[in-house]
Amino acid sequence: KTFKVAIVGATGAVGETMLSILAERNFPVGELIALASAKSAGSRVKFGHRDVVVQDLATFDPAGVDIALFSAGGATSREYAPKFAAAGAVVIDNSSAFRYDDDVPLVVSEVNPEQIGNRPRGIIANPNCSTMQMLVALAPIHRKVGIERINVATYQSVSGGGRSAMEELGRQTAGILNFQEPEPHRFPVQIAFNLIPHIDDFQPNGYTKEEMKLVWETRKILGDDSIRVNPTAVRVPVFFGHSEAVNVETREKITAAEVRAMLQAAPGVEVVDEPVPGGYPTPVTHASGRDPVYVGRIRDDESHPRAVNLWIVSDNIRKGAALNAVQIAELVADAL
Ligand code: A2P
Repeated sequence: KTFKVAIVGATGAVGETMLSILAERNFPVGELIALASAKSAGSRVKFGHRDVVVQDLATFDPAGVDIALFSAGGATSREYAPKFAAAGAVVIDNSSAFRYDDDVPLVVSEVNPEQIGNRPRGIIANPNCSTMQMLVALAPIHRKVGIERINVATYQSVSGGGRSAMEELGRQTAGILNFQEPEPHRFPVQIAFNLIPHIDDFQPNGYTKEEMKLVWETRKILGDDSIRVNPTAVRVPVFFGHSEAVNVETREKITAAEVRAMLQAAPGVEVVDEPVPGGYPTPVTHASGRDPVYVGRIRDDESHPRAVNLWIVSDNIRKGAALNAVQIAELVADAL
């Protein structure tokens, strides 16, 4: 059995990776439809060894599409995802447009795959990249001893902001090395050789929306509104791979050694944790271009009776976006 699969946002950083992951995992694609804005119509994208001509989303008829993977921003999802679902497609949406709706499941493939079946609107939401990698590592701890509170600081690469954000880091870096004044467009201030504690819009409570996604999505995915999350989200001048310094307060005591052993057996996780130079994951040495969520620096919190520290690194474009969307598509296809 094969499926007619549409990629909405096929020319973008995530869409392009969705295409390569579908091909590399031999997803049963019968027909592949690449969609983007009118300005990209007629251009080509790579799907395995094939070139696929990009079509204009605005004029495309979704009839007959079995599975549609959307990664073209919230506004595009809000307008077109319901149309694809009404035409019979299962929509897997990478934007934040539907993530907090009660009738849309929010799924990390290793954590709550059973929820894909409960999709009354035909839409399944893919979580935010930072929540995604954090929960692949923390869900086993939550299941075993219960999580009471999470303190997290993120170090997020520019690819999370799409192609134009990566271009801005490249352009500013080259410019500054040539004694030019950096010009911020995509980011509020200079990103090259800098850090920006501001991702997505500020909320009335003074947190950014990126930070609140960690609060809202953690509770929804783990199915526990009592979990407290205290986030700070920071953009860093790294191209691929988000990192997170995470302190987890648990209901029952668990030691760092027990967490390490548990995560060594956890699906989607790779533990890299030796107290020697390079014995820990970094975006460049481990995560970039790879599938696992890497965990290192696992330590008992010596300031707290029931807490551990972890350093969690993963490719935000792969597990944080495209890979999880394809893994959801695999679960959907198995059940279709
Ligand atoms: P296009 O390249 O034609 O603008 P990124 O996150 O890397 O910036 O990519 C965003 C993706 O979403 C691109 O494929 C982009 O297509 C697509 N996109 C953005 N706005 C629209 C829209 N209004 N209709 C269709 N596709 C869109």
